[in-house]
Amino acid sequence: MRKKVSIVGAGNVGATCAHWLVAKELADVVLVDVVEGIPQGKALDLLEAMPIERRDVSIVGANDYAATANSDIVIITAGIARKPGMSRDDLLNTNYKIMSDVVSKVVAQSPESILIIVSNPLDAMAQTAFRQAGFNRQRVIGMAGVLDSARFRTFIADELKVSVENVTAFVLGGHGDTMVPLARYSTVAGIPLPELIAPERLEQMIQRTRDGGAEIVKHLKTGSAYYAPGAATVEMAEAILKDKKKILPCAAYLEGEYGISGYFIGVPCKLGAGGIEQIVEIKLTAEEDAALKRSAEAVKELCAVIGV
Ligand code: NAI
Ligand code: 2OP
Repeated sequence: MRKKVSIVGAGNVGATCAHWLVAKELADVVLVDVVEGIPQGKALDLLEAMPIERRDVSIVGANDYAATANSDIVIITAGIARKPGMSRDDLLNTNYKIMSDVVSKVVAQSPESILIIVSNPLDAMAQTAFRQAGFNRQRVIGMAGVLDSARFRTFIADELKVSVENVTAFVLGGHGDTMVPLARYSTVAGIPLPELIAPERLEQMIQRTRDGGAEIVKHLKTGSAYYAPGAATVEMAEAILKDKKKILPCAAYLEGEYGISGYFIGVPCKLGAGGIEQIVEIKLTAEEDAALKRSAEAVKELCAVIGV
C-alpha cells in the first residue's frame, strides 16, 4: 500500500512540498488549506502533471480534515510568512493560534502520524504542536537545520567552485539569528572546512547563512523562501517513509541532551520509520556549546510569550 502524506497549508511551501513529494513518487498527497479552492486547484493541477512525469500517485485538495485520515506523515506549513522588515518571531502570536487549531484537527484524524512542523517561528511552533498533539517526542519534528545547512553548503560549494555533492555541513540551534553553523563539522570531500577557507571569510559565509532567510525575503518582497524549504522538508519525509536511518539536523524536543531540557532546538537526529530514532550528541567546544545555549535561551523566551 502506498504511503500517505498530508500537508496543511497549501501556500508556497506546502505546494512545493507536494511537488517534490509526488515528483519523487514518495506517497499519495492530501493538501489542506482554509482558503476554498486553493488546495483543490493546486492538487488537480499537480495531478494532471503526473502522466507527463510518469508518477502513479493520488493528489487531493480539501478544506476539511476528513481527507487526511490515517496519514503516515503530516507536514504543517499553515500560517503567515515573513514580509520585508519582519523577523520570524513577528509571526509568533498569529501562527500560535493557527498551529494549535490545526494540530488538534490533524491528530483527531491521524493519531499515529509523524508531524513535521515548518511554520515559523519554527522552534516555538514545534513546541506548540508537541504540547497540543500529546505525541511522544519521536513523532514531532521541526524542519530548519536541513534548510540552513543546505544554504551553508550552497555558499561553500560556490566559494570553492566544487560540486555540491562534495559538501556536507551542519547548522544546529534555533531557526533564527542565533543559529549555530558548525564549521568544524562541515567538510568538503571529507576535508574539514577550516582547512580550506580562511577564518574571516568563513565568518562572512556563516553570517550569510544566518541571514539566508532574510536575503530571500528581501528579493521576493511579498513572502519568504519556498523551493529550498520544500526540498528540505521532503528530504526529512523521505528518510521517514523509506526508513533510511538518515542523520539530519532537525529541531527535536530535548530532554537533557546537550545540557538542554524542555525545548525544541536543532540537533543531529537519526530519522527512520519511527520518526526521530536517535538524537546524536557530538562534542562541542566551549564556544560552540555557549552558542547553542544562547540559541536555546532565545527559543525559551519565545515559548514563554505563548506559554508553551
Ligand atoms: P504562504 O502564505 O504561501 O502559505 C501559508 C498557507 O497557510 C496559506 O495558503 C494560508 O491560507 C494557509 N493557512 C493559514 N491559516 C490556516 C489554517 N488555520 N489552516 C490551514 N491553512 C491555513 O506561506 P509559506 O511561504 O508557504 O510559509 C508558510 C510558513 O512556513 C510560514 O510561517 C513561514 O514563515 C514558514 N517557513 C518556515 C521555514 C523553515 O525553515 N522552518 C522555511 C520557509 C517558510
Ligand atoms: C527561511 O529561512 C523564512 O524561515 C524561513 O527562509
